[in-house]
Amino acid sequence: MIKLILSLAVLISVMTACNTSPQKEGQTKKNTSQNPNDKNKKDMHSYSNVDEVHTKHLHLNLNIDFDQKLVHGIAVHQIENLSEADEMIFDIKDLEIEKVTLGEDDQETEFEIGEADKLMGSPLKVKITPETKVVKIHYKTTEHTEALQFLNAQQTAGKKHPYLFSQGEAILTRTWIPCQDTPGNRITYSADVKVPSDLLAVMSADNPQKKNNTGEYHFEMKNPIPSYLIAIAVGDLEFHAVGPRSGVYAEPSMIKAAAYELSDMEKMIESAESLYGPYQWGRYDVIVLPPSFPFGGMENPKLTFATPTILAGDKSLVSLIAHELAHSWSGNLVTNATWEDFWLNEGFTVYFENRIMEQIYGKEYADMLALIEYQELQHEVEEISEGKHPEDTHLKLDLEGRNPDDGMTSIAYVKGAFFLKSLEEAAGRESFDKFLKQYFTEHQFQTVTTEDFVKYLDQNLLSKNNIEFNIDEWIYGPGIPESSVKIVSNRFQLVDEKIEVLKSGSAKDLGLKRNDWSTQEWLHFLRHLPADLDVAKMKELDDVYNFKSCGNSELMAEWYVQSIRKGYKGSEADMEKFLINVGRRKFLMPIYRELAKSEEGVALAKEIYNKARPNYHAISTNSIDELLAYEI
Ligand code: BES
Ligand code: ZN
Repeated sequence: MIKLILSLAVLISVMTACNTSPQKEGQTKKNTSQNPNDKNKKDMHSYSNVDEVHTKHLHLNLNIDFDQKLVHGIAVHQIENLSEADEMIFDIKDLEIEKVTLGEDDQETEFEIGEADKLMGSPLKVKITPETKVVKIHYKTTEHTEALQFLNAQQTAGKKHPYLFSQGEAILTRTWIPCQDTPGNRITYSADVKVPSDLLAVMSADNPQKKNNTGEYHFEMKNPIPSYLIAIAVGDLEFHAVGPRSGVYAEPSMIKAAAYELSDMEKMIESAESLYGPYQWGRYDVIVLPPSFPFGGMENPKLTFATPTILAGDKSLVSLIAHELAHSWSGNLVTNATWEDFWLNEGFTVYFENRIMEQIYGKEYADMLALIEYQELQHEVEEISEGKHPEDTHLKLDLEGRNPDDGMTSIAYVKGAFFLKSLEEAAGRESFDKFLKQYFTEHQFQTVTTEDFVKYLDQNLLSKNNIEFNIDEWIYGPGIPESSVKIVSNRFQLVDEKIEVLKSGSAKDLGLKRNDWSTQEWLHFLRHLPADLDVAKMKELDDVYNFKSCGNSELMAEWYVQSIRKGYKGSEADMEKFLINVGRRKFLMPIYRELAKSEEGVALAKEIYNKARPNYHAISTNSIDELLAYEI
């Protein structure tokens, strides 16, 4: 029986928030995909019944309230009911549901909110009829809403205006929009957004390039996308074109640096198109967010969200943009059906990213990037194999009862990419490219499971050309298969030679200036410093190269890790500044983890974290709270 429960729902979800098991009574039905015969497509991370009834188009009416730090919204779902269902199930988490109405005439309908699960949130079960075409959910976000980060003026570059941004992947869209939050369902969306009139709003949609004086903006996304790609950012933003169909958004004080760093964007789009077919999304813009953005980049369609830590001043970190752009094919056009197939999004994208980098910057450079990733993969395979879930080194994941975030390891990214590199080697580049292009074309605007891909691969590449290839060891087997492509980098060999020089001599004997090497060569250098390098030599390196405040975030973060490891204290003040300012989880975790290895380190970590935590997004604090056993 469906009962009418109003805003009590929030109370209930707060009260039951300590329940950790994802399978609660509230979850009456497991979700299957639009293809009910395909068991592999079941998305265990959504309560929604998309196989019975699903959203086709979502219209959002959003009022962004910076005073209360919340979004007040109406989510208008245009639905398709394939099985005369009398109930439509949405995902919600930490939302206050005010009322639900049906049809154009806004008839209030009954709804029920199931028990809240800490990871998945709750099912929102709405009573509908087989004739229902429109479901309108009136709601508010709460202070617990994980997808959104409201920043005070102090936390922005300009220090004058507040800022808001969202992060939906993997299952956080349900914390700011009541929706069927599964990659298995694609929707078009539109939005009317009201913000303070001195701010500009942008979304993963057609975007304005200038503020207007009403603070009201309209958005359209006409290509069907999965819910995790709905995104918004609001702030004191300026736009700067860098190409005919690309440009950057950033706060005024950063716009010039951003436009310079990203000036190769049109070249990247052309390169990507030359590989795997036309760019299907119209414009490709990038917004450079404040430093608390928890990721490097997020491939929100038409508008990649990026960390300002890629602004090194020399374009040395722009492979991240090639990566997010590549998602316009792998991920956004052809989407993983469930989070257990995450490698289909990320592995393909890392492979594709490397091909773009090779085309624009040459094979030697692309090989350095790939080798750095491969070495990270080797470390992570070791770590995972010794951990609680050794089976996480398989490409196809088993995430039953687990956070999809657990799959965000180099397995999906780099093992996935090396699987494709190895296939390329087996098939030859020409026929592999033809195959991939055809794969993207034939599956565009669809979701794909690992099993779908394996079948397609066998039929269209391997059997067809009589190629023998052990697919299973990659997908269902542990670690890195013997037969993997190996990368050799001459430039890294020269770096290794210099490390030998340092061992027997001093930093001065290296005979190198900072600019003699690329970021990637220095990264290789820092990561391969001898474990027993003494503090005096660290000090010499610091005096000559000053990595601790060089402005290149990759090198700074690596230098702090090495400093902690070697007991060199000379970088601590800069490390603290970095940790307070930057919220990118990929940089934070290795530093805090390294600190956490000693008693003295834990104390310092906690002291810094106390100051830094208010600046971090929930995605980063969730991880670091756990690491440092931080009590709120
Ligand atoms: N789609 C991911 C980010 C993501 C994955 C967010 C899973 C939430 C859950 C994005 O494309 C990505 O991979 N970003 C990387 C950078 C990339 C160059 C490897 C990042 O943020 O570090
Ligand atoms: Zn990615």
